[in-house]
Amino acid sequence: MSFSSENQNETGNNSSTENNSVRILAIESSCDDTSASVCIDGRIASNYVANQKVHEQYGGVVPELASRAHMQNIVPVVDVALKQAGISLQEIDAIAFTQSPGLIGSLLVGAQFAKSLALALSKPLIAVHHMQAHVLANLIEENRPSFPFLCLTVSGGHTQIVLARSPLELEVIGETIDDAAGEAFDKSAKLLGLPYPGGPLVDKNAQLGNPLAFKFAEPQIPELNFSFSGLKTSVLYFLQAKQKEDEKFIENNLNDLCASVQHTIIQILLKKLKKAVAQTGVKNVCIAGGVSANSGLRNALQEAGKKYGWKTFIPPFQYCTDNAGMIAITAYYKYKAGKFSELDVSPTARAEWN
Ligand code: KG4
Ligand code: ZN
Repeated sequence: MSFSSENQNETGNNSSTENNSVRILAIESSCDDTSASVCIDGRIASNYVANQKVHEQYGGVVPELASRAHMQNIVPVVDVALKQAGISLQEIDAIAFTQSPGLIGSLLVGAQFAKSLALALSKPLIAVHHMQAHVLANLIEENRPSFPFLCLTVSGGHTQIVLARSPLELEVIGETIDDAAGEAFDKSAKLLGLPYPGGPLVDKNAQLGNPLAFKFAEPQIPELNFSFSGLKTSVLYFLQAKQKEDEKFIENNLNDLCASVQHTIIQILLKKLKKAVAQTGVKNVCIAGGVSANSGLRNALQEAGKKYGWKTFIPPFQYCTDNAGMIAITAYYKYKAGKFSELDVSPTARAEWN
C-alpha cells in the first residue's frame, strides 16, 4: 500500500502567494475528539481539542453520540482555535479537514463544516488522511526527522509501520492483521476492571508495577505485521485461572498486571520496529498515534535508539492523541504541493491512503 495524492484536483486559489504566508485552518472530527488548529507557515499557532466525556459511561465510543457532540462543539472549538492563533477567518488561506478513516457520522460533521466554510469564504479545501497526519505529527516540532524515516503508528484503530520518503510519499510496510495496539490496551484494561479508554490507566498503574511479574503469549506473525487479538485471550484465560484460586487476584496485583500487559505490547511493537530497521536500513525512527503517549513505549524507543544507534523522535503528548494540529501540518505540505480537493469530496469510513 503506498501513498500519493496525484489524483486530487488542483483547484486552490493562491490568495497567500502575495505575502508568501500560508495560513491554514484544520478540523479533526474522525472519532470522539472535536479539534481545530491554525497552522501559519508550517508552525502550529493553535491546537484546541474538546474531548467528549459522554462515552465513558458506555465503555466505548457511541457513534451517534459522538456525531451529536461534534455538532455542538465544532463552532466554539473553531472559534477558540482562531482566537488562540490571533487570526480571523478572513485571513485564512485554506480549510483542511479529516476525510478518512473514522466514524462516518463524525467525519461528516467536520467535512460538511469545512466545505461550507471553504464555499462561503471562497478558499481552497484540503482533504487529509488521518493516518498520514499521525505520521506527519513528527514534523511539527523543530527537532524533526530527516527523510527517509520509519514511523510506528499506534492508535485505537490502527497499528502500522510506515516508511516515509517525503511528506507526501508514505508507504505502509507492516500492519496489524486483527486488533490495533490501542485496542489491546483498552480490551486488557476492561478485563482488569478499568474504565474506557483504559490505555492511559494501564500506563499509570504500570509505573508502579513489575513488568516481568506475569508472562503473556507473544504472537509469531510473519514479516512486519502484527497481531494483538491473542493477547486479549491470553490475559482473559490467565485471569480466569488465577481468580479461581484468589477472587481478589486482580485487585491485589493490579499494578503488576498492568505493567506486564504493557511490557508484552511494547515487546511486540519493538521487535517489529527492529526488523523494519534491519530490512530498510533506515535508522531515523519515530512513533505516532494515541499509544505513542504511553510512557513505557516512549522510554523503550529511546532505549532502543541508544542501544542500536537509531535517531528517535517522539511527538509531544498533545500531538500523539487525535488533534487537528497534525491535520494542519499535513495540509500545509499538501498546500505547498498544490493538492487541493473539490467541494464534492466525501468523507469515507475506511480508505486506502489517498
Ligand atoms: O490516536 P488516538 O487518539 O485515536 C485513534 O485514532 O484511535 O488513539 C487512541 C488510543 C486508545 O486506544 C487509547 O487507550 C490509547 O490510544 N492511549 C494510550 C495512552 N494514551 C492513549 N495507550 C496506552 N498508554 C497511553 N498513555
Ligand atoms: Zn488517531
